[in-house]
Amino acid sequence: MEAPRPFRTAIVPAAGMGTRFLPTTKTVPKELLPVVDTPGIEMVAAEAAEAGADRLLIVTSPGKDAIAAHFAPRPELEATLIARGKDALAAKVRRANELIEVATVTQDEPKGLGHAVGCAGDALAADEEAVAVLLPDDLVLPPPGESGVLARMAAVRAHYGGSVLCAFDVPREQISAYGVFDVQDTDDPDVKIVRDMVEKPPADEAPSTLATAGRYLLDRQIFDALKRIIPGSGGELQLTDAVALLIAEGHPVHVVVHHGGRHDLGNPAGYVRAYVDFALAHPEYGPQLHEWLARRLSWTGGGRVRGA
Ligand code: UTP
Repeated sequence: MEAPRPFRTAIVPAAGMGTRFLPTTKTVPKELLPVVDTPGIEMVAAEAAEAGADRLLIVTSPGKDAIAAHFAPRPELEATLIARGKDALAAKVRRANELIEVATVTQDEPKGLGHAVGCAGDALAADEEAVAVLLPDDLVLPPPGESGVLARMAAVRAHYGGSVLCAFDVPREQISAYGVFDVQDTDDPDVKIVRDMVEKPPADEAPSTLATAGRYLLDRQIFDALKRIIPGSGGELQLTDAVALLIAEGHPVHVVVHHGGRHDLGNPAGYVRAYVDFALAHPEYGPQLHEWLARRLSWTGGGRVRGA
C-alpha cells in the first residue's frame, strides 16, 4: 500500500516588509529578487513541488501583488517570444505557473511569521493533517544526488508523528546569530527530539550548535497553538513560540539535521553570496565570472575595478 502523503499544501509566507532591502523593497517584493535570473520564491516553489506538494499557499500583503502575478500565465509574452524563435525563454516564462497550483491569502499587516502562517489556516481542507511551511528567503539545497530535506522530514513525521523542523549544524562562534535548538538524541544521529528553542543565545550559553532553518512540517494543531500565544518582541507573533507551546503540551517535535547547502536570501550579505554561488555554477556566466572574480580579488587598489 502506498504511504499516505504527509502534506498537500506548502505555505510560503511572503508578506513581510523586507526592510533590510530598502529602498528596493519600496516597490519590489524581496521574494522576487533574482538569484541570477530566477526569483527565490520560484526556486522554493520548485522545492515544494519536488517534495510532493500540490498546492502553494502564498501569504502576501497589500502592495505585493507582483508575487501572485509572477505565478500567473503570460500568454501574450509567451506568444511573442515563440514568434521570435525564443522557445527557451518562453519555457522560462511558463515554468512558474506550471510548477504547482498557487493560491494566495492576505496578511493585512506584518504581525510576524506566526501570524502570517495563521492567516493560511482556514484555507486548508478539513482532511489535511499536516502542512509544510517554506520561507522563501531561505534556500535549503540538497546534498548532490540526494532529495530535498522535506522528504526526510516527512519520513520522520511518519515514524514519530507530530511536527518536524530542520536544522543546520553551525560553528559555535557563529551560533548567536540564529535560533538554536535544545535537543535530545535519538538512535539516528541526524534526528533529534526538540526540547526547546532559544533565540540568538550567547555562544557559551547555546544549548547546541543546531540552528533553525526555514523549513517546517507542522501538524495542523499549530493553528490552534498560534491562536493561544501572545505577541513577542516588536508585537509580532512568533512561529517558534507556537511550536514551543506544543512541545510544552507534550506534542512530539523532532528536528532533522540537514547536511546540504543553505543560502539566506533575507539580507543583502547572504543574498550576494547566493547570487555569486549560483552565477559561478551557471554554464553561460560561470567561467567568465570566475575569471573576473579571481582578478578582482587579487587587485589591492580598493574601490571598484574599472572596466570589465
Ligand atoms: P523575515 O523577517 O526574514 O522577512 O521573515 P521580513 O520581515 O520581510 O524582512 P525584514 O526583517 O523586514 O528585512 C521571513 C519570511 O516571513 C515573511 C517574510 O515575507 C519572509 O518571507 N513574513 C514575515 C510574513 O509573511 N509576515 C510577517 O509579518 C513577517
